[in-house]
Amino acid sequence: MTTNRNTKTGQEPDPSSRTIRDFGEQWLRYRDNEGYYGSLELFSDILSPFVGLDQMKGATVAEIGSGTGRLVNMLLEAGAKHVIAVEPSDAFEVLRQNLLQPEKVTCLKMTGDRLPSYGHLDYVLSVGVLHHIADPGPVVQAAFRALHPGGKFLAWLYGREGNRLYLATVRPMRTLTKRLPHILLTPLVELIYWPSVLYVRLCHAFPLPMRGYVLSVFEKMSPRKRRLIIYDQLNPFYAKYYTRSEAQALLSDQGFKDVQVHHRHGYSWTVIGTKP
Ligand SMILES: C[S@@+](CC[C@H](N)C(=O)[O-])C[C@H]1O[C@@H](n2cnc3c(N)ncnc32)[C@H](O)[C@@H]1O
Repeated sequence: MTTNRNTKTGQEPDPSSRTIRDFGEQWLRYRDNEGYYGSLELFSDILSPFVGLDQMKGATVAEIGSGTGRLVNMLLEAGAKHVIAVEPSDAFEVLRQNLLQPEKVTCLKMTGDRLPSYGHLDYVLSVGVLHHIADPGPVVQAAFRALHPGGKFLAWLYGREGNRLYLATVRPMRTLTKRLPHILLTPLVELIYWPSVLYVRLCHAFPLPMRGYVLSVFEKMSPRKRRLIIYDQLNPFYAKYYTRSEAQALLSDQGFKDVQVHHRHGYSWTVIGTKP
């Protein structure tokens, strides 16, 4: 695959569409959802403390920003009746190939703001997506319209609080890495991977920053998926780190009620709201 990321056109590209292109390239290279990365154990961790896996049984759910279909398959494994998978990037083909029960899934190649206004969905999920969209309000609005009254929207977002050291190091790096082609990004990921192995060990002994995430999630990933996670932090053109109040407002501004925010592993936000 070729990339024109380094081509200077004289104009800054639209950050959201460039991010979609970046993810298309990323998921064509990291296609599978092996091990803990694609497990029900991780899905339960993502949904907690607001929703239990058992609540997905028999539910009709849309997932906005499905990537390689990891969450779609988790939903199917948890017993969802029907899943609507929304993915705008070139990953769409990977998503379709990865589906465990394709007969239970409707795949839509579109951005989240174009999710049809079904009005009967039990849940809409969006995991790791809204922080990559420069103007996420219309996506949250579309989720609102797709739910039935009483239906819930759950989003997981990068957090600002609890991430000071991480942001101080990764944000400056990203100004360069988000412009790098895959061929240069992969060796950089390899360079970071080995210190990350040491960091995991040190987290066992010391209360280091992001220890909760490192020991509860990162350490459980296979070496290949740890590399993907590092790549995923450096690759997408647009990424925003939300404060708690921004995370809350994202849902309440679009009419969701009973909006609750959970500081997941002390570094990110799980937000849930109900359509009244
Ligand atoms: C970090 S990935 C998360 C994938 C999946 N939810 C998961 O957790 O495995 C973000 C995904 O959101 C998609 N995306 C980016 N902008 C989007 C938009 N405006 N509407 C819907 N999806 C979008 C990207 O193409 C990418 O596949």
